[in-house]
Amino acid sequence: MNILVTGGAGYIGSHTARVLVNKKHRVVVLDNLTKGHQAAVKDLEFVRGDTSDKQLLKRLLAGYDIGAVMHFAASSLVGESVRLPSDYYRNNVVNGLTLLDAVVEAGVPYFVFSSTAAVYGEPMEVPITENHPAAPLNPYGATKLALEGAMRWYGEAYGLRYASLRYFNAAGADPAGDIGEDHEPETHLIPLVLKAALGLIPRLDVFGTDYPTPDGTCVRDYIHVNDLADAHVLALEAMAGGAASQIYNLGNGNGYSVLEVIKTAEAVAGKPIPVKYAARRAGDPAVLVAGAEKIKNELGWRPSFPGLQDIIATAWRWHGSHPGGYAIPES
Ligand code: UFG
Repeated sequence: MNILVTGGAGYIGSHTARVLVNKKHRVVVLDNLTKGHQAAVKDLEFVRGDTSDKQLLKRLLAGYDIGAVMHFAASSLVGESVRLPSDYYRNNVVNGLTLLDAVVEAGVPYFVFSSTAAVYGEPMEVPITENHPAAPLNPYGATKLALEGAMRWYGEAYGLRYASLRYFNAAGADPAGDIGEDHEPETHLIPLVLKAALGLIPRLDVFGTDYPTPDGTCVRDYIHVNDLADAHVLALEAMAGGAASQIYNLGNGNGYSVLEVIKTAEAVAGKPIPVKYAARRAGDPAVLVAGAEKIKNELGWRPSFPGLQDIIATAWRWHGSHPGGYAIPES
């Protein structure tokens, strides 16, 4: 199938584009490169442009005879979203609607959406299943939930078939070692822990040690980026085989604390990692763990990297060989 991957030069989009190509799909990447990296696209077909550009979208959908869209292009920083809600509503909702409109007008039948556990807000119970009430605590989660709502009603009115994948904590890198996570600024735990191990930052600040968890630090469910990518392909194939629109959580179902992540990273790196115990970061729930039985039962999804050590080992390979991210050419 010919697939348009928006945000395909970003972290999760680039890994998914690679899995699609390995499965013999033809991929066209659309990315405005505000956050993405052209080097992450490698030799895929690449168009630099924006999801706000409806004429461009229409040209691409018709010109490449696109059969499905995978939509990763979005603003995705929780803290930034609280400061800049206008930017988040514009990029994630307004531009998302422009894309959805172009998709239904072009008659593209399938849409796979990059959603987030942030739609749930503070969990009332863990593991969090898809039936958990969605009550986002920040504009990032709210804007992802808003586009999910639009997808549902576009499905009712225009027959769009969609899968929305609510990721927990994406981590790791392709084991090949040539693509990986490179955010500016970097805010995520695992890359920062590994940067501290490499001496690229002086230490890792542990945000909060007084949470109601076994060691007092926040617990998260880390899922390998290639396992996320596989889930996108499965969701698309299911729809192409006649499956109805669905929402799926994506996580391993195992929670690891910040201190457990640091300890595991020390084992992978073979060296101690300097840390400083710091205050809580605003808006962090104590525990986020996915109930991901639905996608396992319905689509047969199984993680290839269920263990934290294996996930961190792939990230370590990427960061070790690309200490400057994509900015420094591969040696
Ligand atoms: N953390 C630290 N120090 C750091 C960075 C993070 O202690 O320097 C802690 C955080 O407080 C949190 C955990 O490590 O407890 C994980 O933090 P991340 O920033 O890596 O990830 P989040 O859980 O905050 O965010 C993830 C996704 C978001 C999504 C959110 C849902 O990256 O896209 O889950 O709440 F919105």
